[in-house]
Amino acid sequence: MSAPEEQRAPTQQREQPRRVTTLRLRQMKQQGQKIVCLTAYDALMARIFDEAGVDIILVGDSLGNVFQGHETTIPVTLEEMIYHTKAVVRGVRRAMVVTDMPFMSYQVSVEEAFRNAGRIMKEAGAGAVKLEGGERVVEAVARMTAAGIPVMGHLGLTPQSIHQFGSYRVRGTDPKEAEQILRDAKLLEEAGAFAIVLEKIPAELARKVTESLSIPTIGIGAGVYCDGQVLVYTDLLGLTVDFQPRFVRQYERLYERILQAVSQFADDVRAQRFPSEEESY
Ligand code: KIV
Repeated sequence: MSAPEEQRAPTQQREQPRRVTTLRLRQMKQQGQKIVCLTAYDALMARIFDEAGVDIILVGDSLGNVFQGHETTIPVTLEEMIYHTKAVVRGVRRAMVVTDMPFMSYQVSVEEAFRNAGRIMKEAGAGAVKLEGGERVVEAVARMTAAGIPVMGHLGLTPQSIHQFGSYRVRGTDPKEAEQILRDAKLLEEAGAFAIVLEKIPAELARKVTESLSIPTIGIGAGVYCDGQVLVYTDLLGLTVDFQPRFVRQYERLYERILQAVSQFADDVRAQRFPSEEESY
């Protein structure tokens, strides 16, 4: 006998919506429909973002900064990305789940990159992988896409190369760098990438890249002409207070609200206002 409606686990009551696919994302670009992308690192948040209609949930290696407290994304491991992806996948029904390949999981050789991308798809259940760089990663991208692994590129500011560049400044401001970004974008498209993240580049350059590709561009600090936008969710919700780049719009101030709520709980416990009689047995 099945449980009455109100006693069923919430997951059983949710309808299975149609999954976002690479084909759908390309159609969205063609139809001028903007693509919404947000990071998530666990099932709890992923479920809310999916329900809100986010098209792509990115298990970003930004989890190294926001969850693990590192200064950079460099220490994040493949095992950690797989762990977080598994959790996110459990919370998502409609969005495409894209997982960042962490630093040194795709640089050693094409074969190793290919094997690690396969692990992310097979063990973690991601719908696609993302990796940073242009020309130097196209061979690995081609190998993955030829085997049916959807790949998202990432150009402009590439946080895994922070020690090479030495700063988080805007990229593509000089003509040579801008040309390279444009060339890299075309190479990634030719290698079979289904979308490209453009991070922290001038809006006009992002427009040029976007107009020259048939695959969608997803911008972060890259202006309004990209085919979609992505933010790190802790920035959007005001959970990260030490880091306020110009491209972030804070839609909430959760750091303050959580601080207030937890302080109130602590006060209530200390003053024996919690639990009340109604909250006791
Ligand atoms: O790791 C991440 O969250 C990202 C986004 C900033 C695009 O790569």
